[in-house]
Amino acid sequence: MAEKKQHTVGKTTDFPVGKFKIIDIGGREIGIAQLKNGEFRAVRNVCPHKGAPVCKGPIVGTHLPSAVGELIYGRDGEVLACPWHGFEFDLLTGDELIQSGKPTKLLMFPVAVENDNVVVTL
Ligand code: FES
Repeated sequence: MAEKKQHTVGKTTDFPVGKFKIIDIGGREIGIAQLKNGEFRAVRNVCPHKGAPVCKGPIVGTHLPSAVGELIYGRDGEVLACPWHGFEFDLLTGDELIQSGKPTKLLMFPVAVENDNVVVTL
């Protein structure tokens, strides 16, 4: 397995809140986004379902568990919706929100902010 390296991908201001910016790092497309809570996420731009460029999907919320006949929207800015089939992924954990069979998970990489630089390790 290749040794992990740190990659400075830009300043924090280069990443608008709630939208992925897709960057090539060593031949791999990585989506980097700043969440509403100020945390950053780095996600491989491949959906674990069927391989869509998942980071081109919107960062949204979801419908929370609720009573029959109720629709309660929540978790705004914490969920990535795949642009192909609409699977929703929790950007706090990478997990698919509704397990539709075999569990799937986003491939996420550590991100740090150092002196206003965004640094991804992969
Ligand atoms: S490829 Fe992403 S939900 Fe199907």
